[in-house]
Amino acid sequence: MNNVRHVFCATLLTAIVSCPAAKEPLSRIAFGSCANEHRPQPIWEAINNLKPQLFIFTGDNVYADSADPVKLRNSYEQLAQIPGFSALREACPVIGTWDDHDYGKNDAGEEFEGKQAAKDAFMKFFATPEDSPLRKRGGVYDAKIYGPEGKRVHVILLDTRWFRGPIRKMTKEELKAARAESGNKVGRYLPDEESDSSMLGKDQWNWLVEELKKPAELRLLVSSIQVIPNEHGWEKWGNLPRERKKLLDAIRDNARNVVILSGDRHLSELSVLPPETDGGPFYPVYEVTSSGLNQTGLPEEVNHFRVEGTEIYNQPNFGLIEVDWSQEDPAIKLEIHDVDGKVVREVQTTLNTLKPCQL
Ligand SMILES: [Fe+2]
Repeated sequence: MNNVRHVFCATLLTAIVSCPAAKEPLSRIAFGSCANEHRPQPIWEAINNLKPQLFIFTGDNVYADSADPVKLRNSYEQLAQIPGFSALREACPVIGTWDDHDYGKNDAGEEFEGKQAAKDAFMKFFATPEDSPLRKRGGVYDAKIYGPEGKRVHVILLDTRWFRGPIRKMTKEELKAARAESGNKVGRYLPDEESDSSMLGKDQWNWLVEELKKPAELRLLVSSIQVIPNEHGWEKWGNLPRERKKLLDAIRDNARNVVILSGDRHLSELSVLPPETDGGPFYPVYEVTSSGLNQTGLPEEVNHFRVEGTEIYNQPNFGLIEVDWSQEDPAIKLEIHDVDGKVVREVQTTLNTLKPCQL
């Protein structure tokens, strides 16, 4: 492990020296998921009041649930016309990835026949240039680095839909038993230890490893579905255990300072993977799940990785990452805010906590 760390840090130092300078550091990044355009979305006012420098959609940005290009386009147009969202888009960059409902079908993966129509609508909404490499490859995965050297935030947007192979659904009997045991609404998927389905597909995996090697002080890895919480029966990386391990291995071997952002769940929570757990890296990996902007309500569930002393939050909410770059060891706040902008869940850490070797 020490050798890996040494080589990795040396590579990072070399890369930083040659990296071009950039602009203002990002200190306030808002994000959110699960925004049903057919229902009111008052939450944008609270988001605008906090004046984020960047907003990241983490999936289910519209509920098109269709392979029809007209319906897909209409859904995005409805979102674009919401005054609060429109004001946000005027005030700061809005980027994102998708999940199943904007991909076009509940819980869909690589087999979905409407995915090209969904991608066309997505690219139009996010104003992806005609000559962008995104248009020439599958899916919508992308990455951007913001801020000057020493204060860079690297946002990596994964696509967990376009390439995702089959996952194991519970049988009727298994679902009945799971419902009886929890007494609550439960998900219908089971981890399949033997599955060799891919979550990201070969090209996106190769791309991700190269992205993780790029120099940045803070890395936000955006996955529409949850990575660390591993016990519920809804969609999650843990349904493909080999792929979850591959992701944690890739983070461990290539990247420091990773914080995961996710959505999808219709509940919010803060999780942390302790150092060297499940094959993960030698620093704690936090995951902030914010869901949704107006789609919420799932009940309490077990998550042994939930940050101690916190509970789920299942009313409309958004996430906020705040970084105080003025400190020698920059403070990082990972927060969930309610519809009025009030902080309802939070955990604080520092950059050095996520970065065991010094630059
Ligand atoms: Fe979803």
